Amino acid sequence: MTERTLVLVKPDGVKRGLIGQVLARIEAKGYEIEKLQLVRATKEQLAEHYAEHAGKPFYQPLVDFMASGPIAAVVATGDGVITGFRSLAGATDPTTAAPGTIRGDLGRDWGTAVQQNIVHGSDSTESAKREIAIWFPADEG
Ligand code: CMP
Repeated sequence: MTERTLVLVKPDGVKRGLIGQVLARIEAKGYEIEKLQLVRATKEQLAEHYAEHAGKPFYQPLVDFMASGPIAAVVATGDGVITGFRSLAGATDPTTAAPGTIRGDLGRDWGTAVQQNIVHGSDSTESAKREIAIWFPADEG
């Protein structure tokens, strides 16, 4: 089934010049880039996006990091793209993420635990719908 997912290239990925590599991996896998925008996250967007992590010890540092620089927000589409992109991204922790994945090939521990892990990808159809509406408020679905 054709799906849509929300991918974010986080501030570390943008700063390190990795937008192109992330997009290239999405496209090389045969998914389509439907929308792409460079944005500065607002506090409101981050509070909504990370609502499920509110109150966790890493919440505030994560939100501060996500507000520290531009983010590339992407809507990618294709059959199975939600799981497919998470598989391209690799495990949350870039130190243990498998080689061959975005985080495994391009990420490492920069002394900030797993906060700086280059990309975010929606984890379900419901999350994708919710997250796309946060980053592309004019999206018609
Ligand atoms: P992501 O899966 O995109 O969304 C939640 C983010 O929280 C995750 O990426 C990491 O960047 C961050 N995160 C999760 N667990 C931790 C942790 N223990 N310490 C710091 N950041 C974390």
